[in-house]
Amino acid sequence: MQALTWQGRRDVRVQQVPDPVIQEPTDIVVEITSTGLCGSDLHLYEVLAPFLEPGDVLGHEPMGRVREAGPEVTAVAEGDRVVIPFNVSCGTCHMCRAGLYSQCETTQVHKYGTGACLFGYTKLYGQMPGGQAELLRVPFGNTLPIKVPEEPPDDRFLFLSDVLPTAWQAVEYADVPEGGSLLVLGLGPIGEMCTRIAKLRGIDRVMAVDLVPERLERARLRGVHVFDLRGKETSRRDAILAMTDGRGPDSVIDAVGMEAHGAPAAKLAQQMAGLLPRDAAAKLMQRAGMDRLAALLFAIDIVRRGGTISLSGVYGGMTDPLPMLTLFDKQIQLRMGQANVRRWVEDIMPLLADGDPLGVDGFATHHLPLGQAPEAYAMFQEKKDGAIKIVFNP
Ligand SMILES: NC(=O)c1ccc[n+]([C@@H]2O[C@H](COP(=O)([O-])OP(=O)(O)OC[C@H]3O[C@@H](n4cnc5c(N)ncnc54)[C@H](O)[C@@H]3O)[C@@H](O)[C@H]2O)c1
Ligand SMILES: [Zn+2]
Ligand SMILES: [Zn+2]
Repeated sequence: MQALTWQGRRDVRVQQVPDPVIQEPTDIVVEITSTGLCGSDLHLYEVLAPFLEPGDVLGHEPMGRVREAGPEVTAVAEGDRVVIPFNVSCGTCHMCRAGLYSQCETTQVHKYGTGACLFGYTKLYGQMPGGQAELLRVPFGNTLPIKVPEEPPDDRFLFLSDVLPTAWQAVEYADVPEGGSLLVLGLGPIGEMCTRIAKLRGIDRVMAVDLVPERLERARLRGVHVFDLRGKETSRRDAILAMTDGRGPDSVIDAVGMEAHGAPAAKLAQQMAGLLPRDAAAKLMQRAGMDRLAALLFAIDIVRRGGTISLSGVYGGMTDPLPMLTLFDKQIQLRMGQANVRRWVEDIMPLLADGDPLGVDGFATHHLPLGQAPEAYAMFQEKKDGAIKIVFNP
């Protein structure tokens, strides 16, 4: 089959690789019809390179049709249309039963002390072949795939694999009080979907910060008060305080993560790690503070006293310097983690069946054949050609 493989920093290629096969009696193999490109893939493209091997197949936002099912699979059958969550979660262990699918005890990666395996996401998360490919092997065929209706076209359901549950969890964790305010940092697919979900859930005062004009504009058109990061920080800060009775937002979602704009020293450290041999860089990253913290530090500064910060942006440093005095003194509540995809599917599904109030049908800005994935990664990283969400159709 054809698959998008990682080869090195900013070097991904579509190659011929062996077809996946059923390995366990509960596996299925899915023929992929649509598969998303995510901000998390950009971390692999650049910063997390030490944890990848050339040839690793990337991608964790796939959907398609069941092509083959193992002998013990009863929940889905050949030909069924399915979306695959990005967590590789068993659905039956203690953590899964508690709704903490990203901490699945059956697939935790003990070698690195990390949580559940993820499709297409480094050795830290099990080095499972990903879904930017023509075919994908999916374990736990009775509990993991999300079976979806035959109509309408893929984009209605595709974002159940990651964007929708990630944004849903971010808003849930943000815990905005009745009549309260929410600030979303970052208007990539995750941040923007957070603003849509927040509005739909009745949060009136939704503000957001980004620095890409078309991303700001898209959110503004849906009633979000947007602030341009390229403007003066003091005036942005003053404007947000003015909108929140001088106290700051009740809740802040960080949908930016480890590669935030405006953190030059950490950017240099990330680049220097990139020059080290892979093993040395991996060791350094597992011990050092490697994240660009501009967005998180702004969240800590601007959230009101006693407010909540919800992190969906991915961080990876082990000793990041954080202002503990401020965190403690302001009594900030901090909630975070990889999305527990399966946990939120039942909440989200009615919004996809009943019209399209979140506007998922028009959410993707680009649909491309898998063969154009290398150009698409570069375009998405450089935020060119209005690329906000790219979907490949293998
Ligand atoms: N927790 C999870 O389960 C989960 C799932 C998916 C994605 N993510 C993470 O969420 C984050 C966003 O993903 P995405 O697909 O939307 O990616 P993205 O890269 O398109 O979005 C990031 C946005 O942040 C903006 N930005 C950069 N620095 C900023 C700053 N200092 N202040 C405000 N905005 C800033 C960028 O312009 C960009 O629009 C990534 O870190 C990704 O890894 C987490
Ligand atoms: Zn993703
Ligand atoms: Zn489990």
